[in-house]
Amino acid sequence: MTSVLRVNGGRSLNGEITVRGAKNFVPKAMVAALLGHTPSVLSNVPLIQDVNVVSGLLELHGVKVDFDESCGVLHLDPTSVESAHVADIDAHAGSSRIPILFCGPLLHRLGEAFIPDLGGCNIGGRPIDFHLDSLRSFGARVEKRVGGIHITNPDGLHGTQIELPYPSVGATEQTLLTAVLAKGLTELRGAAVEPEIMDLVSVLQKMGAIISVDTDRTIRIEGVDELVGYRHSALPDRIEAASWASAALATGGDITVLGASQPDMTTFLNTFRKIGGSFDVLENGIRFWHPGGDLRSIAIETNVHPGLMTDWQQPLVVALTQAKGLSIVHETVYEKRFGFTDALNQMGAQVQLYRECLGSTPCRFKQANFVHSAAISGPTPLHGADIEIPDLRGGFSHMIAALAASGTSTVSGIEMISRGYEHFTSKLSLLDADFKEVK
Ligand code: EPZ
Repeated sequence: MTSVLRVNGGRSLNGEITVRGAKNFVPKAMVAALLGHTPSVLSNVPLIQDVNVVSGLLELHGVKVDFDESCGVLHLDPTSVESAHVADIDAHAGSSRIPILFCGPLLHRLGEAFIPDLGGCNIGGRPIDFHLDSLRSFGARVEKRVGGIHITNPDGLHGTQIELPYPSVGATEQTLLTAVLAKGLTELRGAAVEPEIMDLVSVLQKMGAIISVDTDRTIRIEGVDELVGYRHSALPDRIEAASWASAALATGGDITVLGASQPDMTTFLNTFRKIGGSFDVLENGIRFWHPGGDLRSIAIETNVHPGLMTDWQQPLVVALTQAKGLSIVHETVYEKRFGFTDALNQMGAQVQLYRECLGSTPCRFKQANFVHSAAISGPTPLHGADIEIPDLRGGFSHMIAALAASGTSTVSGIEMISRGYEHFTSKLSLLDADFKEVK
């Protein structure tokens, strides 16, 4: 059901909100519970759509899931795992991309898995070739079927050597979740090392896995015979924290984000400061505010960790429409991640898109027909408009723009934002935003 907000903009956001566990970690830790033969407990779990989807998928496979939403604690009991009906998996997976990560655990538990064709935000091709190559190198047989892929492991899974062509977060998670119970040693070169990956390594180590991460992005996993359940508290959502920080800049406000963790956000905090934002690291979070005066334009380039995260650029772009001068953003992780800027231009922004690499280093999308660089000139006053949200992060950015714009905007597709931002509209109310749910 599409939900619509009518937003009266031109007011600064001020107040205190709390972020809980990271959307891009919690569902992976839930899948990891399948690998243990005793129950697991995951805390600091946010109430977001992706958690509901994965809970449902786990239950389809016989896992008992109990979520105490008020305190954010998930109990997962995987002692009786069974195959699920393809139609049920497909119906339940929705737009989530997490089902692909069930492959390794289900191969270990059941000897086979059926993964429906994946959804996810429309920000590029979202191929899964690295995932399938990784599974094949462990000895799995992968067959494309109507509506998805059928995977079996006739002779069990054995350790292997994998070199990722690009430090893919998902392919790194795929390899970790398969290698921990495979026979022998697995060496993964060119791995992603995001904080969410390192938290998944901690979870697997608690379960009994033996994993080392070298400074050259090589992860080595010694397969073990069995794993047990874990108790873990999820790391905070650094994407949500940065989203609200950008909202404070764009609306001239002052937002304290309880739960935010500085070490995971170093590169974002440097960028926030260079644009002219102020922040103060507290005992239990970070306070972000616009100190007054002009915001400064900047040239930024997204990259894998520890670079500037691709999921941080959309909200920052909105703040840059209010910065003095010409800002440049070179998006090097996804080929099509500036679609959301059309709506900003409708509201008075001046964002020009280019297929050239407008950054310090040419990226994978050089000379290809991908519009992956943006030039933003500002400051440009924004005015209200009717907006249709395109994807999760672009949607949050549209909301920031509507809150910063003078006049009224209607923003439809708000349910897409609740996929990754817990209690989104209640947080807007806590920050004194002036809006009404019209549908
Ligand atoms: C995860 O997506 C996150 N999603 C993304 O967040 C995040 O932007 C991304 O990592 C990068 O940090 C979740 O964790 C659920 P990738 P993932 O594999 O794993 C290419 C959000 O809004 N690639 O690191 O799908 C791919 O096309 C979302 O929270 C292949 O070519 O990202 C992309 O260009 C958006 N083949 C690049 O690698 C593959 O088999 C990075 O993708 C896999 C990936």
